[in-house]
Amino acid sequence: MRRISVKLKDRSYTISCGTDQWEKELILQAKKNADKSARIFVIYDAKVFALYGQQISKALKRTGIMFDELVLPSGEQTKSVSQLNKVYSYLLDNKVTRNDFLLACGGGVISDFTGYVAATILRGVKWGILSTTLLGMVDAAIGGKTGINHKAGKNLIGAFWQPSFVICGTIFLNTLSPRLIISGLGEVVKYVGLIGQKMNGILDKYVEQGDLYDQACLSQLIYQSAKYKAEIVSRDEREGNIRMVLNLGHTFGHAIEKSLGYGKLQHGEAVIIGLLAAVELSERTKKSRIRSLSSYKQTIIRFLEMIPKYKISINDVITHTGVDKKRKGKQLIFVLLNKPGMPIKCDVKKNLLKPSLKAALKEYEKRRLRCQGF
Ligand SMILES: NC(=O)c1ccc[n+]([C@@H]2O[C@H](COP(=O)([O-])OP(=O)(O)OC[C@H]3O[C@@H](n4cnc5c(N)ncnc54)[C@H](O)[C@@H]3O)[C@@H](O)[C@H]2O)c1
Repeated sequence: MRRISVKLKDRSYTISCGTDQWEKELILQAKKNADKSARIFVIYDAKVFALYGQQISKALKRTGIMFDELVLPSGEQTKSVSQLNKVYSYLLDNKVTRNDFLLACGGGVISDFTGYVAATILRGVKWGILSTTLLGMVDAAIGGKTGINHKAGKNLIGAFWQPSFVICGTIFLNTLSPRLIISGLGEVVKYVGLIGQKMNGILDKYVEQGDLYDQACLSQLIYQSAKYKAEIVSRDEREGNIRMVLNLGHTFGHAIEKSLGYGKLQHGEAVIIGLLAAVELSERTKKSRIRSLSSYKQTIIRFLEMIPKYKISINDVITHTGVDKKRKGKQLIFVLLNKPGMPIKCDVKKNLLKPSLKAALKEYEKRRLRCQGF
């Protein structure tokens, strides 16, 4: 597996990704990061447990470290206070100590949730992630943002708490639905905007070969995405400055998700529409060089055809854009593009939001759902 470092002094850690055996890497990282006398509490997504539980247990047995397994329901509702209480009770009833280690096995829901448990129980214990979704591998598992949802909004309760390792085995993606692969690709398309030409070339190759599940291509896309995010997090762990660039397409994306009601569009699907709106906004604010974004726009549009169609209300989205939790006072800070590979943060005039969003939604509505693949 290829390794990437997130460099945060004494909280530095490794992200391992690739097509080859994740079991070997899990044994190695567990032995390296969990104390021999500790217990590992494995927190599974239910689907992941059904598909891979046996293999994961078998690998953990080979570490010689004691472990306990806990299976949580799949889905966003797991990121809740009630589920949190159940898991706190389970761990405390089982006499968890500060020496113990939590291992998240699943996608973004399980890593956000487990990370928050790790950050808060006994004032913090160590944890690691075996990531099993594309969105997890390119985004959610990296950077230490952990949390749960509140009825006022998603991810409003949380903490920065870095894991001790992240493992991204592309083989897990074979059992993921095409829709969830495409949702993960939403974040990959974001990295094309942030990184530029090199990443665009890798994505083009992937699309051209035509197989959504191609292991070699996915592995390259994951590696480049994770490497970019790791570098940004290493420079700005708590999103004081540069880490904000990772929000490209997300202000609109979150607002679209919220306006539809959660559970309709997947996160990464909404991000794809949000990216197009951000590109439109970059052009309207004259922050981008003339025609520098036209090819990136075509890349985004290619993915619009793979997203299910919903009627999206522009006014609702605009309302939710204004209440994005990343706003600063009255300012509306957006991440825009000067050109692919050159993101910039901008305070944007409110009257430019509507036409930008309108143009993006027109494109989305115009595209028929072709298929969930290339
Ligand atoms: N912390 C961060 O920086 C960050 C960033 C982006 C998103 N997120 C969070 O991530 C979550 C979304 O993540 P997600 O898309 O991975 O969703 P998810 O964790 O809900 O997984 C999606 C679905 O895939 C299933 N699944 C997982 N692995 C599988 C596999 N290998 N094979 C078959 N099915 C599998 C799960 O059971 C679930 O039904 C959201 O809660 C979002 O807020 C966090």
